[in-house]
Amino acid sequence: MLKNELDVTLHRAENLKEKPDQRQLGFGNYFTDHMLTMRWNKEQGWHDAKIEPYGNFSLDPAAMVLHYSQEIFEGLKAYCGADDSVLLFRPMDNLNRFNDSAERMCMPRIPTDKVLQAMKGLIYLERDWIPQSQGAALYIRPAMIATEAALGVRPADEYIFFIICSPVGAYYAEGFSPTRIYVEDEYVRAVQGGVGNVKTGGNYAASIKAHTTSQQKGYTQVLWLDAVERKYIEEVGTSNIFFMINDELVTPPLGGTILPGITRDTVLQLAADWGIATCERRITIDEVIAAAEDGSLTEAFGSGTAAVISPIGEFGYKENTITVNKGKTGPLAQRLFDDIQCLQRGAAADPHDWIVRVK
Ligand code: COI
Repeated sequence: MLKNELDVTLHRAENLKEKPDQRQLGFGNYFTDHMLTMRWNKEQGWHDAKIEPYGNFSLDPAAMVLHYSQEIFEGLKAYCGADDSVLLFRPMDNLNRFNDSAERMCMPRIPTDKVLQAMKGLIYLERDWIPQSQGAALYIRPAMIATEAALGVRPADEYIFFIICSPVGAYYAEGFSPTRIYVEDEYVRAVQGGVGNVKTGGNYAASIKAHTTSQQKGYTQVLWLDAVERKYIEEVGTSNIFFMINDELVTPPLGGTILPGITRDTVLQLAADWGIATCERRITIDEVIAAAEDGSLTEAFGSGTAAVISPIGEFGYKENTITVNKGKTGPLAQRLFDDIQCLQRGAAADPHDWIVRVK
């Protein structure tokens, strides 16, 4: 047992796992040798931080997360740089967003500076797991669950925070090829005052029905419309969304019902750097259809940590099929995909100080 300077105890795994084939990773199918765990209770606050062998938790069947879903999570990635460096992209934005989620779900905030240090320690230890191939990375999943055994509906008095890591390739089977997106007109994702802007598992559990139905129809993902008028575009199942209309990059505003994506923010800042007009405003599905028909819609794409930049080649809405850019990847999506990957791998200038070096 070793103590490092961050009071994180390190217990090394005795047997290391065999690494998977980097060309067959998919998303979230493999997990590294170690994980970070840290506990919270009312008396001690955060304590017992450990990097330990990846393994099962022991939970009481009454653990509150199992009943009332008091759970939050994040997603970020570690990349291999050209000079064998190990890089994180905007990790503090993820940890700050984690604390915003914690506030909304009545969970304890995490000490972001310490957690970033501990995360770097974990990633350094797992550096041989970071895939080198283009488009692949080590996905980092911080999460917190309510572990107190009790059945009253109230904030729990005990939590586990943990970070697991997974070498990943492209999120979608299509890779970077254009996706087909089904505009969901039966189910809704979020309402004002709800938790649509929070990274909590319940949002995703509630989305599975629509997603599964859309997949049965041959679509990659769903596009959510607003819950009140069912006409304003919100976000795709696992990403935010952008449209290029009349040479302006349009994305729905952060109004409490969509996730404040870090890749979304990156896209907005890069586009502004490149002199592209950007606009965060409400946009209806009818406007998108009209723009596709009159030729002013030239591109559509999703943005997210898992999805990176995912071009959209087609929307299905009720009986209509809306084709975008003849079903091909547009030049802006391609440029963003290439430039963001270069940035994340340390191969481009970083004027916004987004990169945090682990090694
Ligand atoms: C991410 O992009 O990191 C996400 O959290 C989406 C995930 C649900 C796959």
